[in-house]
Amino acid sequence: MLFLIFLILAIIIFNLLFKETRWDWNKINLDSITFPKSFIWGTATASHQVEGNCKNNWSEFEKGFKNNGKPNIKDAQISGLACDHWQRYKSDIELIKSIGVKHYRFSLEWSKIEPELGVFNDEALNHYSDVIDELLKNNIEPVITLHHFSHPIWFDKLGAFEKEKNISHLVSFCDKVFSHYSNRVKYWCTINEPGVVAIQGYFTGMFPPGEKNGQKAGEVYKNLLESHVQIYKSLKKLPNGNSVKIGIVKNINQFDPWNRYNIFDWLFTFAMNHVFNWAPINFFKTGKLKFRVPGLIWNSHINKDAVKSLDFFGLNYYSHNHIRFNPFSKDYSDLMYKKNDIMTDMPYTIYAEGIYRAIKLVSKLNLPIIITENGVADKEDSIRSEYIKKYLFAVSKSIKDGYNVVGYYYWSLMDNFEWAFGYDMRFGLFEVDFENQKRTLKKGAKAYINIIKTQSNE
Ligand code: BGC
Repeated sequence: MLFLIFLILAIIIFNLLFKETRWDWNKINLDSITFPKSFIWGTATASHQVEGNCKNNWSEFEKGFKNNGKPNIKDAQISGLACDHWQRYKSDIELIKSIGVKHYRFSLEWSKIEPELGVFNDEALNHYSDVIDELLKNNIEPVITLHHFSHPIWFDKLGAFEKEKNISHLVSFCDKVFSHYSNRVKYWCTINEPGVVAIQGYFTGMFPPGEKNGQKAGEVYKNLLESHVQIYKSLKKLPNGNSVKIGIVKNINQFDPWNRYNIFDWLFTFAMNHVFNWAPINFFKTGKLKFRVPGLIWNSHINKDAVKSLDFFGLNYYSHNHIRFNPFSKDYSDLMYKKNDIMTDMPYTIYAEGIYRAIKLVSKLNLPIIITENGVADKEDSIRSEYIKKYLFAVSKSIKDGYNVVGYYYWSLMDNFEWAFGYDMRFGLFEVDFENQKRTLKKGAKAYINIIKTQSNE
């Protein structure tokens, strides 16, 4: 009884001291955002989402169905030709140039470069070499992602990241491409969103291989983080290793309790923040990885090399969710939304305070931070402009408050294949008509272009 009273009092005091961060947007002038002149402006894509004709773990998954008979991808859509970026990269680079950004983050499609284990395709290697040259010719810095959700089918057949010994295959691939491009490419991102690959692939089943096995999710998560460390170490030993910047790309998936007076909502929120955000950050801080959610994800791993394995932190930020614990729902929780929240087309709200909180969290690592992705799915293009201004206000505020954010890449250059949602989610600065591949600048994108223009040197 005494314990219960203590607990209730503790929750009340805690809530009085710590409120969910909410700014009064009526008092903020979104037209007076300022950034340092050195700030890096960019945009991003990923191979499977834009290139077309990929044969990899995702293209296989796109053909499949879940146990309940529903297709793996919404309405059984397939990536197919996507944005045909493989053929159209030159005109797409003109688009990148036209919006005034100076960095383009894109990923290498491992399955095209190494279609069979140990067999490298020169045409694909030359293709990316041409993309890099074209970018440089246009004064745009290429930023390469080595693994962005997709990998070769042979790697999947070997068990992909379920087995620690398979990491060496990814490291060999990275060594190979690094030796080809590192004389021209200064920024390298190793793994895109390890937590998403592990949780969506092995816990919710929304991503390939579509499993629901918490133990495996923990193992895969650990192996992806470990892959980063091994790739970093290996690339640093190669020529140009010391002159390039290598980082991981990690999304901060923020959770707050739905009911701040409900201990179960708090516990589940802690568990989610722990798995998605705190445990991996702690790994880079201490070299110790501990997942501690009994029955769901339970794993531990030590690699002291993790501590010095980042030249920058690539922060992706999209989502803030309120969690209501529900033992009867399939993921043990419900995602809840506040009445006045502005929804995007994805199950996320506009909550720009969240990117500020995420920056604050990852700044514990004392590294330069690049916002490697932030953007909005907005088919009607009715909230994009507001979204961009609010999030960039939050980023500019974080810099003024002393956080070391050096760049921002809007996701994405153009509408593309949004994984399990297919082509329905429209994140692009450019609209893509998938019937004829026509690209059209969106009205909402002008907010980004204007900010870049007023804040850049030239
Ligand atoms: C991924 C992108 C994706 C974006 C929007 C990130 O998780 O890195 O590939 O398109 O979110 O959902």
